[in-house]
Amino acid sequence: MLAVVGGPRRRGNTDLLMDEVIRGAREAGASVERVFLADLAIEPGDGCDACRKTSRRVRRHDMVGLYDKLFESDVWILGTPVYWWGPCAQLKAFIDRWCLFGEDGRDRAQGKRAALVATFAGKNPDTARHAVGMLQDSFDYLRIGFTEQLLVAADDRGEVARDRLALGRAHALGTRLVLGR
Ligand SMILES: Cc1cc2nc3c(=O)[nH]c(=O)nc-3n(C[C@H](O)[C@H](O)[C@H](O)COP(=O)(O)O)c2cc1C
Repeated sequence: MLAVVGGPRRRGNTDLLMDEVIRGAREAGASVERVFLADLAIEPGDGCDACRKTSRRVRRHDMVGLYDKLFESDVWILGTPVYWWGPCAQLKAFIDRWCLFGEDGRDRAQGKRAALVATFAGKNPDTARHAVGMLQDSFDYLRIGFTEQLLVAADDRGEVARDRLALGRAHALGTRLVLGR
């Protein structure tokens, strides 16, 4: 299982919720690798299309090391705060680098499952609809099952640590991703 924390705020709401999802998954027996995107240098794509044409990892940056993790993991958990109604830039840059999954590469994605953890300041989970919709369409294209979205209202750094309901939902999500219930 691969857990990708897109939110750049360490010990922020996304980070803390992702920890709970991971804890739930590990307690249920999964091996989970955690990646904190802000620790990595993933350049925005420049549309060169080279990886698509050659199926090779052309650019030398930290995304290179993530491809094998993506290919090998049966479940992906992505975490992002809502930034301007969409995902944060770190997660978007990472997703833009899924070009190796384009067209023929979709076979490598088929059958995987994915879940999203998204935090947002407002009280209305609908705020996350574009981030959710973007991922839903992307996963449909890749033939990945987008099984769950955990959408949590929180704003100040680490505020979610006091939200026992949200932490419990995150833990339960991790368990479900492994045990399927
Ligand atoms: C640049 C930026 C843009 C944001 N845009 C939104 C938004 O469109 N809607 C919203 O509800 N909250 C928005 N927020 C608030 C964050 O989603 C919220 O504070 C979240 O809990 C941050 O998660 P973190 O603690 O993991 O960083 C924004 C925050 C920042 C820094």
